[in-house]
Amino acid sequence: MQGEIFEIILLSCLIFLNIIMSETTFKIQRFNPEKDKETYFQEFKLEIPKGATLLDCLNLIKWTQDGTLTFRMSCRSAICGSCSVRANGHAVLACKTQASSVAQNDQVTIKPLGNMEIIKDLAVDLTEFWKKVEAIKPWLMPDEKKETQTTERTQSVEEFLKIDKASTCIMCSSCYSDCCSMAVDKSFLGPTALAKAQRFVEDSRDKETISRIKELSEDAGIWDCTHCGECSQRCPTEAKPLDRIVSLRTVALNSGVTNNYGARHAKAFVKSIKSSGILNENTIPVASMGFFNIPGLLSLIPVGIRMFLKGKNPPLIHHPMQELDDVKRIFKKFEEK
Ligand code: FES
Repeated sequence: MQGEIFEIILLSCLIFLNIIMSETTFKIQRFNPEKDKETYFQEFKLEIPKGATLLDCLNLIKWTQDGTLTFRMSCRSAICGSCSVRANGHAVLACKTQASSVAQNDQVTIKPLGNMEIIKDLAVDLTEFWKKVEAIKPWLMPDEKKETQTTERTQSVEEFLKIDKASTCIMCSSCYSDCCSMAVDKSFLGPTALAKAQRFVEDSRDKETISRIKELSEDAGIWDCTHCGECSQRCPTEAKPLDRIVSLRTVALNSGVTNNYGARHAKAFVKSIKSSGILNENTIPVASMGFFNIPGLLSLIPVGIRMFLKGKNPPLIHHPMQELDDVKRIFKKFEEK
């Protein structure tokens, strides 16, 4: 009996020692434009020191194993936003991420951010990213008539709270990297620029709210987000871009900036659910395109024919919904609010 207990304790100690002493394999994507035609992975073994962040580990690898490994960093305090990389497929801020939290089976795969060209190893080209931020005019445009005022422009607490979360964005581009809409449409403004835009659209001191929201409602703007939520998942701050995009859409609808496909689509959804409790796939595309938009309506015909041939067309007359009264009650409560 005593021997068995001793064996169990010994085994437990060995397992514990193995856990704390085991090396983690860092599989890092490499690319040197001066000599490589394609990217490749290089493996580095490292014992993760207690409490080390992913950035600490990248630094250790650079200092002790390969000085040519290239990545960005500056503050090491989750402030400057320069150290984002993809760990195991998702963008993370390397200096804010515990290395042990991303190691799976003693392995971590690190790649450069997505949706951008690689410059070298983990450093990506942010030119397009910054162009999009610049496109939303990220500066305050106050009422010029009040320019003669001698006191500072103040805000109430309530006014400030509308832009507080967006103002925490550190421009790390993690959301931009993992944005699904960006992956299929490079012209999309993207979550970072849109979150930044909300900070100015809803700033009580800015007088260009309507012109800003009109521009943001054009193609590749607020209505091109597909609501996948990945941007908010990846955001290391409270900026949470998807929430900011929803806020911009609300401003657009409440301001009457609705003469565009996205706003009509949202309104058609609401109308369909409110009136019948279901999404009527026959009327929504037509309402979204606009009843008098003849070229747009004609462009739907080939899609309709393809759906019909594949047996994907929705029924012309939907079966009635049983709990329609419940749906109407939900709408009523929402509208009362
Ligand atoms: Fe500045 Fe990570 S190094 S945010």
